[in-house]
Amino acid sequence: MSALPFTMPQPLPFDQLLSLEGRTAIVTGGSRGIGEAIVRRLAEAGATVVFTARHADALRAVEETTADLPGTCVGVVADIGNLDDSRQLVATTRERFGGVDILINNAATFPPGTALEADEELWDRLLDTDTKGAFFLAQYAAADMVERGRGGRIINLLSTAFVNATPMFAVYSIAKAGLWAATRVLAQELAPHRITVNALTPGSTMTQERLAAFASGDLSKVLGNDLPVHLPEAAAQAIESGQFGALIKQMVPMGRPGFPDDLARAALFLACDLAEYITGQNIVVDGGQSASVKTGPSAAMPTTQSAPTAESAPPTATRSPER
Ligand SMILES: NC(=O)c1ccc[n+]([C@@H]2O[C@H](COP(=O)([O-])OP(=O)(O)OC[C@H]3O[C@@H](n4cnc5c(N)ncnc54)[C@H](OP(=O)(O)O)[C@@H]3O)[C@@H](O)[C@H]2O)c1
Repeated sequence: MSALPFTMPQPLPFDQLLSLEGRTAIVTGGSRGIGEAIVRRLAEAGATVVFTARHADALRAVEETTADLPGTCVGVVADIGNLDDSRQLVATTRERFGGVDILINNAATFPPGTALEADEELWDRLLDTDTKGAFFLAQYAAADMVERGRGGRIINLLSTAFVNATPMFAVYSIAKAGLWAATRVLAQELAPHRITVNALTPGSTMTQERLAAFASGDLSKVLGNDLPVHLPEAAAQAIESGQFGALIKQMVPMGRPGFPDDLARAALFLACDLAEYITGQNIVVDGGQSASVKTGPSAAMPTTQSAPTAESAPPTATRSPER
């Protein structure tokens, strides 16, 4: 009988599967929204979390509210659209904490605009942050991971905007589609180094900012994004007539919009040892919305059959200038 030409992984004790103790994560855009929730979950699992944003005051606030968690959270000002900042971010993480084990490419900018309206400035701003910035940060972090030889995790945040054809978010959709392509290429190239590369696709997610907008009745902010409704006018009417909950129930099989922690739990899953053998995949976290309406086959990705969202809504005056 010949020996197996593979090393079989040793079964890990159950309590270690979720632990990130001894690991260092970079989370971009960790000062609010989905990124902040991810920072918390990783720190709860024991990781040292270096998280970024462009505004220092918001970083300090998250440092304060995470101070009691098992892991350490350190905010670093960095613009992900600036490659020098990203190089420095990885160098600083290495100097202070020994290197990068987990990278969460979460920071993004999402100004709306139709394909006919899009100009070069919008294209460059969006692609520089959401695609080029995320790609090169992954490259710098992966170089560090390869050199250390401990494997690693890279997780890229996408959007249902690229899964569906999304009028009004033309360049954003293109930017996220590019990041999905990068995810799959990197997954192939980095697998021999035990570095997994996956994507997380949020459906409509009610961040604190949007909840505040909803509470204050600022429909432009609530509807300017991608609530799970494909007719913003219908949503506006539903909010005004107190029927918004009923509308969401109709649109989302799980009966509610997503919240940042829904994404953070999925990020934790992909970051920890539970997901050791998963790479090149995309997890759509949208309460089943993308499974509820078939819009036709697509070769782009396995989870492409999605319901229209407000991201795919026709242009409307209620949209905010920046998502
Ligand atoms: N919320 C949703 O419904 C939804 C839906 C689909 C996809 N997504 C994706 O999920 C991710 C997070 O979305 P979110 O709604 O949580 O965003 P958000 O609330 O707007 O937060 C964005 C975070 O990124 C930071 N950021 C923005 N531009 C940056 C840059 N150039 N460099 C560094 N940091 C930057 C922001 O801080 P500063 O402004 O201080 O830099 C902030 O911390 C994004 O990738 C987005 O495309 C979200």
